[in-house]
Amino acid sequence: MRSTQIRSTFLDFFTSRGHHQVASSPLVPDDPTLLLANAGMNQFKPYFLGETNPPFPRATSIQKCARTSDIDNVGRTNRHATFFEMMGNFSFGDYFKEEACAFAWELLTEGYGLEKDKLWITVFENDDEAERIWRRIGVPASRIQRLGMEDNYWSMGVPGPCGPCSEINYDRGPAFGKDGGPAVDGERYVEIWNLVFMQFQRGKGDKKGNFPILGPLARTGVDTGLGLDRLAAILQDVPNVCTTDLLLPTLHAVQDLAGREAPAEGEEKVSFQVVTEHARSIAYLIADGVLPAKDGRGYVLRRLMRRAVRHARLLGIEGPVLPAVTASVISNLQAVWPELSSQAALIEQVVTAEEESFGRTLAQGTRLLDAAIARTRESRSAALPGETAFELADTYGFPLELTVEAAHDAGLTVDEDRFAALLDEQKKRAKAGGKAKTAEALRKLDTYRELSATLPRTDFLGYEHLDAEATITGLLSGGTVVTSADEGSEIELVLDRSPFYAEAGGQIGDTGTLTLTDSTRLQITDTRYGLEGFRVHSARVLEGDVRTGMSGEARVDAARRAGLMRSHSATHILHAVVMTILGAHARQQGSLVEPDRLRFDFAHFAALTPDQLTTIEQAVNGHVLDDPAVRAWYADRVEAEAAGAIALFGEKYGETVRIVDIGNFSRELCGGTHVAHGSQVGAFRLLSESSIGSNLRRVEALTGHGTLRHQDTERRLLGELAAQLGIRPAQALDTLRKRLTALADAQAELARLRTADLRTQAQALAGTVRPVGSGRLLVQKIADVSPDELRQLASQVLNHLSPGPAVVILALEHESKALLAAAITTDLLDHGPAAQLIARAAGTVGGGGGGKGALASAGGRHPQHIDQALTEATEDAIHLLGSR
Ligand code: SER
Repeated sequence: MRSTQIRSTFLDFFTSRGHHQVASSPLVPDDPTLLLANAGMNQFKPYFLGETNPPFPRATSIQKCARTSDIDNVGRTNRHATFFEMMGNFSFGDYFKEEACAFAWELLTEGYGLEKDKLWITVFENDDEAERIWRRIGVPASRIQRLGMEDNYWSMGVPGPCGPCSEINYDRGPAFGKDGGPAVDGERYVEIWNLVFMQFQRGKGDKKGNFPILGPLARTGVDTGLGLDRLAAILQDVPNVCTTDLLLPTLHAVQDLAGREAPAEGEEKVSFQVVTEHARSIAYLIADGVLPAKDGRGYVLRRLMRRAVRHARLLGIEGPVLPAVTASVISNLQAVWPELSSQAALIEQVVTAEEESFGRTLAQGTRLLDAAIARTRESRSAALPGETAFELADTYGFPLELTVEAAHDAGLTVDEDRFAALLDEQKKRAKAGGKAKTAEALRKLDTYRELSATLPRTDFLGYEHLDAEATITGLLSGGTVVTSADEGSEIELVLDRSPFYAEAGGQIGDTGTLTLTDSTRLQITDTRYGLEGFRVHSARVLEGDVRTGMSGEARVDAARRAGLMRSHSATHILHAVVMTILGAHARQQGSLVEPDRLRFDFAHFAALTPDQLTTIEQAVNGHVLDDPAVRAWYADRVEAEAAGAIALFGEKYGETVRIVDIGNFSRELCGGTHVAHGSQVGAFRLLSESSIGSNLRRVEALTGHGTLRHQDTERRLLGELAAQLGIRPAQALDTLRKRLTALADAQAELARLRTADLRTQAQALAGTVRPVGSGRLLVQKIADVSPDELRQLASQVLNHLSPGPAVVILALEHESKALLAAAITTDLLDHGPAAQLIARAAGTVGGGGGGKGALASAGGRHPQHIDQALTEATEDAIHLLGSR
């Protein structure tokens, strides 16, 4: 059965049993505790925790998942992957174990036609009920096994819902491993479907993976995950996840590059599979907006790319590998996952650039490594120091495994313990900073959960109204619930209805006032979501005491909000313009919407030229002047996407989405507040463009009053400039150019005169030399020259005195310092350089000097000792000339 049919069979089965079909959420989750989407239930976490009411009691989805915990197993086992599609069915407080098991059994045996006696079941060690259910379904006791926390208890790995689970495993036969069921051999009895019975809420775990159970879930339910790769391998009767129709074309692409077939066993097989499997993860991650970076999810991507490149090199593929293999992923899977084709250009650009830069890293690291290996050998040590391996990894991004391999080839080992210790120290340092903050944030989060479970949802009125009657339904101080707060305190509050927009989609939160009585007033300093859908207002009590239950008038700062609306609409217009001018890959990657000011990040692989920037600015202003209508409407998600609305990476949208249209050129899913007509944006002005990471650009811009203020400042500046020049602003540039030319001419003339003057001075000075022995000597204090000119003068005077022997020593007081210059004819050099001749004098003025040959200069802090120094220099010169 082809994978397309496997997917549709799954979805048809569950939708016909009352499950609402939900699209996969992006790989970048809307959950600060989670790096990447790792299970189908991620997007439903708020339903299980009771933070939000589910709009339907049953759901089904095919979720894109990324997990790197098994990265080292890729290629070594038949079943592990870092990216997979997980088909799931979910119940939120609806059905539980009985139906979950029955559904799964029916679909596997009838829908997919798997042989019943090849299916083995595991249940959690004390879950008698699950075992009874499977027995009733007809599974013999001999094919049901009990396993502990490690295997049969599931959580996301971070705080959230969890529960015991029951896994369905398929026996692939003796060729795949030992007898004895899934408890004995996970390769032969491959886990295909995990049924989690969600019952509890877990807290933060310790290092060993133990975590506290915080209590029962608000809504118990079912979360299941059937791995598409694994089921496809069974139904297509192929040995592993790289040989199903999902990945076979990519494996072929790798074989084409390597010029040979992948072997069935051994290290080479591993490398073929690593490149194949990682290519898919790389393509999907980039398509969902992840770009390579030093940390976080960007690092996960970078690591996958580097591993893929390294394994390609091990296979002897020397040229670029990632562009071709990701292209095969795109062409094979784009029909099901259209984000792959819409982001194809970006994927190609990113993998090409990253592979090139990794090539440079490898070259640089190899040079350093070779030097370190040579040093280690010289010192007759058997191990390369951990410090070297750490520096290579940390500073140059050179992977430890490569260092180990290269050391091994040279007959050396690497001090890996020291490496691990250094890495640990570095991590601890980084963590110490964040820890205190995290504890407080987690405490607050718990309080928000507690409040949001009991309080009704805040009614948001801010699209139409800037003020409203509102009642305080919850108060928080220092992260805990209180019932009252005194004058002067900083608190957070929840309202039953609110005109304040809570920060989302880049638009910062509203501020304003809450007036409860004539003598009780609060200033609202920010509005945010504490949890999804749960609005929290930060406030300062300006006057009076505040209690839960008090009502009054909530009023948004209207001028500030107007500035926010201008910037938000301008951001949409800019997004549309950038994608038109630069290409469809240039999608929004982040934004900050502030009053009359915005920041906009987008994917692009080169700096924008001044011409492009001008074109973009003009196009935005053109749209603004056309005064397009701005319209917000609601639709279900599928409808909205069919209508071409742009959804942003990392944003979470419910089933019903809000769509904002501007004219006929911009359509985005957006919950933000907007102007009613494009012209209200006012003048748009680009301020700057810069790089904020590989393939990531940032522009900053002004709108409305921001642009006007900026223009005002510029106009004033130009006015002052013109006033200084004594002309009208319009003539400023012309006049300035002329004056700069005149200035340059004058400076050139001055330099010419100075040179002539120096020449005359040198001639005059040469006339005052006195004979000493067979040579001549001039020692003189000079004024009104620069330090440079002093040296020039010394050597010009000496020129008059050649052939020698002759000595010229000049001194100058300059900016409270003493400066000495000495020039000697070359025939004196065998007695030492000129610097030596004035060494004593330089000491006397409190300094030192240098210069190698016949010309030296020195400086010191004591100009009052110049005469003394010159006397000493004269003595030394006479001694030198006399000694000849
Ligand atoms: N959440 C469970 C898993 O990922 C079942 O979907 O295995």
